[in-house]
Amino acid sequence: MIDPIQLFVPFFRVEETLSEIRECLEQGWTGLGFKTVQMEEAWKNYTSLPNAHFLNSATAGLHLAIRLIKEEEGWKEGDEIITTPLTFVSTNHAILYERLTPVFADIDEYLCLDPVSVENRITEGTRAVMFVGLGGNVGQLDKIVALCQERGLKLILDASHMAGTYWNGKHIGNEADVSVFSFQAVKNLPTGDSGMICFREIKLDEEVRKWTWLGIDKDTFSRTISKGAYKWHYDTVHEGFKYHGNSIMAGIGLVSLKYLDRDNAYRRQIAAWYDERLQGKSGIQRVPVRSGCLSSRHLYQIQVDNRDEVMLALNDEKIYPGVHYRDNTLYKMYAQGRGTCPRSMEASERIISLPMHLKLTYRDVQRVCDALIEIVNRG
Ligand SMILES: Cc1ncc(COP(=O)(O)O)c(C=O)c1O
Repeated sequence: MIDPIQLFVPFFRVEETLSEIRECLEQGWTGLGFKTVQMEEAWKNYTSLPNAHFLNSATAGLHLAIRLIKEEEGWKEGDEIITTPLTFVSTNHAILYERLTPVFADIDEYLCLDPVSVENRITEGTRAVMFVGLGGNVGQLDKIVALCQERGLKLILDASHMAGTYWNGKHIGNEADVSVFSFQAVKNLPTGDSGMICFREIKLDEEVRKWTWLGIDKDTFSRTISKGAYKWHYDTVHEGFKYHGNSIMAGIGLVSLKYLDRDNAYRRQIAAWYDERLQGKSGIQRVPVRSGCLSSRHLYQIQVDNRDEVMLALNDEKIYPGVHYRDNTLYKMYAQGRGTCPRSMEASERIISLPMHLKLTYRDVQRVCDALIEIVNRG
């Protein structure tokens, strides 16, 4: 009996994580404040980003990124955000939550937005570009930054896969007006569900804290520790949302964060093993990482012909890869963009994410490669 090899197997330091959670239970503080504050500080310290607010998901963060910039800039319903079709639907749903229009641009060899295609999609109605660092790759983000500056557009970075991605020696995030990270259950910095929103401007960081707790402008924890009178007197400035993170998730995240660089280094080792075996193999095209990018390696992606058959044949060998992602214009709700991004549509039919997690061994990687090479060459 051979063991199955799964796409993702999240890894937790169980005892260390339990002691963080135990602290929350012993203190009787599992909600907003306490560990969420520690997590924000630890994240700022780790990334050197100036601002960070801990959330219950990256989806919430993407929504708020758009909401706050829309309010600040006075965008109107129907204004356009240029975005990628090759992403998880959260990226594009967030645009619709604010009744803006997603305009799809095509992708490049890194499976990220192609700056030339983005430029071609700019109209009078364009307000921002939404860039996704797929799998931890920076793609041509630098060119998108320059384009946004030149054309007066805001830049939102969906950095859901980019915890621990460095670009020319610096942690990713400060290139954009706002960056949103995901610490969802199977991400490379796993919790249960949570995320971080990092605005470049402190003003928006202060503002977003009101939006994540129903428009209330002071959190319970700071009211409890500030011993002044009338601590129950707080203002509610608008309806906001219930989007803040909690201390249990933050406790899990604090431990994951402590080991993030080490864990990502092992992911890059796995990627190097794949590269070594797969380079030059006919019928298997590896997705490159942009030079200067130290990728988090949330994903290791390849492209093949007859992808669905290859996936099923791998399943027969008890190997379970994934697809990140189907082109969003294949979904009914985004069908208006169908046919506008041929490279994305082609990639969507050909991409496979090979198993990538911390429990994989060198032998596992060889088993995946042996099976893949054999299947692709069956003809
Ligand atoms: C590219 C991308 N954007 C956004 C999200 C949403 O993250 P979350 O599950 O934390 O809301 C994900 C998660 O799968 C993602 O992969």
